[in-house]
Amino acid sequence: MSEYKIVTAARQLAGEIQVPGDKSISHRSIMFGSLAEGVTMVRGFLHGEDNHATLNAFRAMGVEISEAADGVLTIQGRGLDGLQEPADVLDCGNSGTTMRLMCGLLSGQRFFSVLTGDQYLRRRPMKRVVKPLSEMGARILGRDGGERAPLAIDGGGIRAASYHSPIASAQVKSAVLLAGLSAEGATEVYEPHLSRDHSERMLTYFGADLQLLDGGVRLQGRPRLLGREVSVPGDISSAAFFLVAALITPGTELLIRNVGVNPTRSGVIDILQAMGGDITLQDQRTCSGEPVADLLVRSSELHGIRVGGDLVPRAIDEFPVISVAASLAQGTTVISEAEELRVKETDRIAAICGELGKLGARLEPRPDGMLIEGVEQLTGAEVGSHGDHRIAMSLAIAGLRAAGEMRINDTGCTATSFPNFWSLLEQIKQ
Ligand code: S3P
Repeated sequence: MSEYKIVTAARQLAGEIQVPGDKSISHRSIMFGSLAEGVTMVRGFLHGEDNHATLNAFRAMGVEISEAADGVLTIQGRGLDGLQEPADVLDCGNSGTTMRLMCGLLSGQRFFSVLTGDQYLRRRPMKRVVKPLSEMGARILGRDGGERAPLAIDGGGIRAASYHSPIASAQVKSAVLLAGLSAEGATEVYEPHLSRDHSERMLTYFGADLQLLDGGVRLQGRPRLLGREVSVPGDISSAAFFLVAALITPGTELLIRNVGVNPTRSGVIDILQAMGGDITLQDQRTCSGEPVADLLVRSSELHGIRVGGDLVPRAIDEFPVISVAASLAQGTTVISEAEELRVKETDRIAAICGELGKLGARLEPRPDGMLIEGVEQLTGAEVGSHGDHRIAMSLAIAGLRAAGEMRINDTGCTATSFPNFWSLLEQIKQ
């Protein structure tokens, strides 16, 4: 709570940067690498607090994971049935992905385990995974009838299932698929809009038999996963802060190298381009089954747009910083069908509207999103992160266009996903 940052306006930004590895892909590289047979090497792994929670959990289940001086991980895979019962509670920290995906994975392991997390994670909804997993035969107990962590899992005995998820959530989809790995037969998951598909891509890359269906995916249980080399691209969710920073700062040209541009994640590029943002994808390529590009971005006159439907899951983590762009765009931006924002690391609709409002932005919260009227300029003020890394970093980007000094309280949380955010921001300021 005591950590804070002072941000001042930028005259201009320039340079070439690389952002740290993708958080979602880093989590999955440890999970699938541990469940595979043989060695998995992971380059570009995100050494942030969330991913270390996953790493520590697998070490606690007997997986040998070593880290070289350059950050490359070597995982000695133990196969589908090789994990050991952890002797203590597994602490997922602030990481919803760790907790929800582990719930699925541990449901299929024939031992007892308990998952907990920090004060924010222990408030977040878990029934969305506990319900489908229970239908597959999992025995999971938690506070509020299984809605809140800590969660205790008496694993084993999972049956394949066909699950129609009411929400487009990669965490729900991946939890069911991870449980389905241990079941005989095929497990299917359907979702209302396609959520990020990193699990599907990595499972296929490791040799699983996975088919894409109309609105869903089918995984054959008990696959033989084989260890592979994984190159984790830069996280588009981290690049998004610098995309918006460059767009809203006059006279700026910035190159962000090696960013993952998986179409299930690249909604932020589509949204910012639709707002008039000058963003070019260069040198598009594929790395370990994931599309990657360099992003060239130049400052632009932005205008408001409407965002809803299948764009929402494709940009779900970027709405805090998209709101900063919309606050400085001409006209009105309307974000709808984004009620999931209310159950992220914090209630992001309330946090964005409250904190950006203190800087003179004009936002109106709605149950499923918000309405944003653009203004010419923001004004420095004292704001807070609500313990949410993406709120803290979005506020820092807003500060680039705020007159006067701005103080952001409670900024330690940025270490969960982007430990060198502040130094990169200083590096590109002219
Ligand atoms: C994630 C899925 C998304 C996203 C989160 C990471 C993942 O959550 O917001 O930051 O790695 O599967 P939901 O599944 O709740 O949408």
